[in-house]
Amino acid sequence: MLEINNIRVSYGKVEVIKDVSFHIEKGEVVVIIGANGAGKTTIMRTITGLMKPSIGSIVFKGQDISKISAERIVAAGITMCPEGRQVFPQHTVSQNLKLGAYLIRHNRKLVQERMEKMYELFPILKERQQQLAGTLSGGEQQMLAIARAMMVDPELLLLDEPSAGLAPIYVKNTFDMIKKLSERGTTILLVEQMAKMALGVADRAYVLETGRIVISGSAQEIMHDPRVEESYLGQKKS
Ligand SMILES: Nc1ncnc2c1ncn2[C@@H]1O[C@H](COP(=O)(O)OP(=O)(O)O)[C@@H](O)[C@H]1O
Ligand SMILES: [Mg+2]
Repeated sequence: MLEINNIRVSYGKVEVIKDVSFHIEKGEVVVIIGANGAGKTTIMRTITGLMKPSIGSIVFKGQDISKISAERIVAAGITMCPEGRQVFPQHTVSQNLKLGAYLIRHNRKLVQERMEKMYELFPILKERQQQLAGTLSGGEQQMLAIARAMMVDPELLLLDEPSAGLAPIYVKNTFDMIKKLSERGTTILLVEQMAKMALGVADRAYVLETGRIVISGSAQEIMHDPRVEESYLGQKKS
């Protein structure tokens, strides 16, 4: 479904993604594991068109999307839930969901249907639909941020460190939510520093170190790789 071929990405003169290639098949959950600063967010921003690779291609369902606008990439079926749960704190839960649906905003019936679908999947959001997003717990905000990204019904959902900064109970809820979306047929690419829970929901994984993929394999293989155990399965480092 998505093929990243030998991309390089720089900020000014500093190249932070160095010849990265990987792929995601329809229906998979793929995780990229990497420490702080490895280049995970940069890869996400490049897939969504917010940054352009200096070289290499990004092919989504047969089309090279590496040169098209961020808006057209969303329309093609890719959305990202960015790092740090960026909900609109002064807006209610339902307003936040509506804001996620800007691409289909003219079809009010469809927006309403999608909202009902999200409430059905995540009843906590339904209970809190009139509450200001800023007053939700961290875990609920993460749930809202992911549900908002789902409002355009993407084929590929990108999640940038969904567990970051959450208490352990909410981390588990977040990964349960990811599992639920995957079971409904959404293809998911997730990046994480904390590998353990992510590998529990993933089919395959890549390990990114300073802009290069250094290990790849099935989630099972990666989970038992001694190099990974040492660096990414212990206490959270950052
Ligand atoms: N806007 C920016 N300008 C310059 N350098 C940046 C910028 N954003 C990130 N970087 C650098 O790029 C590298 C990768 O960053 P990032 O993709 O955010 O890593 P991660 O998400 O894995 O923590 C880091 O060395 C970081 O300092
Ligand atoms: Mg990041």
